[in-house]
Amino acid sequence: MALAIENPQETRAADLVSLALALGARMVPGWSEAEETLTSETPESFPLFDGDIRAAIEHGADPLGDAYCRRFSAEERRPTGATYTPHTIVDTMIGWAATQITPHRVIDPGAGSARFLVAAGRRFPQAELLAVEVDPLAAILARGHLAAAGMAERARIIVTDYRQLTLPPVDGPTLFVGNPPYVRHHQIEPRWKQWLSETARRYGHEASQLAGLHVHFFLATAELARPGDVGVFITAAEWLDVNYGRLVRDLLMGVLGARTLLIIEPTAEPFPGTQSTAVSSGFEVAAKPETIGIRRVATMEALDCLQPGTQVSRELLMAGDRWTPLTRVSGGVDRRLRRVVRFDPKRDRCALHDDKRLVPNQRRSTRHRDESIAAPSIALPGRPADLRS
Ligand SMILES: C[S@@+](CC[C@H](N)C(=O)[O-])C[C@H]1O[C@@H](n2cnc3c(N)ncnc32)[C@H](O)[C@@H]1O
Repeated sequence: MALAIENPQETRAADLVSLALALGARMVPGWSEAEETLTSETPESFPLFDGDIRAAIEHGADPLGDAYCRRFSAEERRPTGATYTPHTIVDTMIGWAATQITPHRVIDPGAGSARFLVAAGRRFPQAELLAVEVDPLAAILARGHLAAAGMAERARIIVTDYRQLTLPPVDGPTLFVGNPPYVRHHQIEPRWKQWLSETARRYGHEASQLAGLHVHFFLATAELARPGDVGVFITAAEWLDVNYGRLVRDLLMGVLGARTLLIIEPTAEPFPGTQSTAVSSGFEVAAKPETIGIRRVATMEALDCLQPGTQVSRELLMAGDRWTPLTRVSGGVDRRLRRVVRFDPKRDRCALHDDKRLVPNQRRSTRHRDESIAAPSIALPGRPADLRS
């Protein structure tokens, strides 16, 4: 018999709730009033399907999350920005995080069915797991998922707006990982827009009122994180270039400390059916690396967290108003910046050129005795347009 949850027409939200309860959703601490209301009339058993679902979860699938996405159309999920992340991307991001830290705690902001948190729980078997989710139905599914994966005891789910979260300190680093909701500014309440501006100002940044909810999530993370914490978020790539994305760029060049950007081209269909470019941004809070590893991939098969990518200088990114051309650098910028990135307007991409002004110090002393040591600023102009000289 086919699982009822494979048939979106026949699946009711109550079936999903009932299944999550049967998987042990109540074992995960942090149960909210909103979830209580949702479950008050739901029978706590789904005996026919429980076994199959458990086995699927043990094998790394997320049948509850998949069923949720089939049950509710993209249209219905749009107000909360609920687009769940393909497992290949989740695994790549967790894989990258594992190269950076062994977290004491993992936080999944906008957790949905907790596929990031469960993957992180498998990778970091000692870590505390915290999901933050505003939608009580998704939170219940996340609880069922975590419980079936055997992680109920070290997990907690808080049903709240991520921007309102407060965290107890922990004895070790925190990993922030997830897919912040993509909700356009029209749907964002004025008080949150004000929060964005005022909070950004404290970091010395300007915030645009046109910023979407994913931008708010970066700022909320800056508020919660501590030096040495690590984060990796997947989002639509628009913020690389548009004016409202400036705050994300500033945060990544400032307090959030970008280490890597992995751009996933539409050809890879990172979010099937959306034709969008996605970017996974990896950061270490308060780090100021000299270069940031940037890679573009055109297929899902090419996703590989261990590839360092082209090393693009932080100064170049800080000076750029649009980052996409800088992600199209061919070759690599070496750590001593001996080569300069120039923008080629015909190809809408950057390329590297040797620049005699940027030879390493020992050679500079003979050939360019009188030149300023601040050579990188010569080579790192303000905007791609300025690179055309
Ligand atoms: C893009 S989905 C990601 C779901 C899951 N992390 C994944 O990647 O598969 C974003 C999630 O954030 C939740 N969400 C939306 N606004 C939120 C807010 N202000 N605070 C917390 N969660 C929110 C949505 O309900 C949705 O489940």
